[in-house]
Amino acid sequence: MRIDLISAVPELLSGPLDYSIVGRARKADKVDIVIHDLREHSDHKHRKVDDYPFGGGAGLVMSPQPIFDCIKGLKKQRRYDLVLFPTPDAPVLDQKTVNNISLYENIIILCGHYKGVDQRVRDELIDMEISIGDYVLSGGELPAMVIVDSIVRLLPGVIGDAESALDDSFQDGFLSAPVYTRPANFRGLEIPGILKSGNHSAIKKWREQQAVAITGTKRPDIFKKLISKSN
Ligand code: 6GU
Repeated sequence: MRIDLISAVPELLSGPLDYSIVGRARKADKVDIVIHDLREHSDHKHRKVDDYPFGGGAGLVMSPQPIFDCIKGLKKQRRYDLVLFPTPDAPVLDQKTVNNISLYENIIILCGHYKGVDQRVRDELIDMEISIGDYVLSGGELPAMVIVDSIVRLLPGVIGDAESALDDSFQDGFLSAPVYTRPANFRGLEIPGILKSGNHSAIKKWREQQAVAITGTKRPDIFKKLISKSN
């Protein structure tokens, strides 16, 4: 998979995509992540990428010219399956959407900033808009990194233990069961005895029961949906 990220503040994108699972996936050529500085596509003499909103109001709006030229330039080089725009006024990302996006070959993610981007960009260039939750962030860079991380960890060969991604919270709809590591007794705090039993079917059953109970208490909204689906 190739992911092109477009941003007016590309410095924001460097750190989190260079380490841990995403960083290792890039080094192992499981994913190609290319960061584009929107300012380099601006025709303005001072590389401006935003301007005042027509009709007045607070804040600046990202101009269409650098975005149109950057995306048009990319589309000349290869076929893109999806142009994604993280924005708070959109449907909220869930695991099903992440799974679907992870199947694409080439995607573009446009990071907006300031008050928003010119609506003509959204009308003409964007295929999918995604919010990462009902709160406001200063720009699309953090959401873009959330989206990239959620996708890249699903790509073949990225997570060593093939089962691990499938065991994630949300992959079967339920939150995950608690996990423990050594020592079994940490300063008097004991792990659940079943995990030392060596009885794998009993452990599997315990984890499933825990997952159901935890989902019911922590996320009753998800729990109700799953129960109504199974009935
Ligand atoms: Cl995708 N963008 C911004 N700026 N804020 C958000 C968001 C996205 N999702 C939740 N809040």
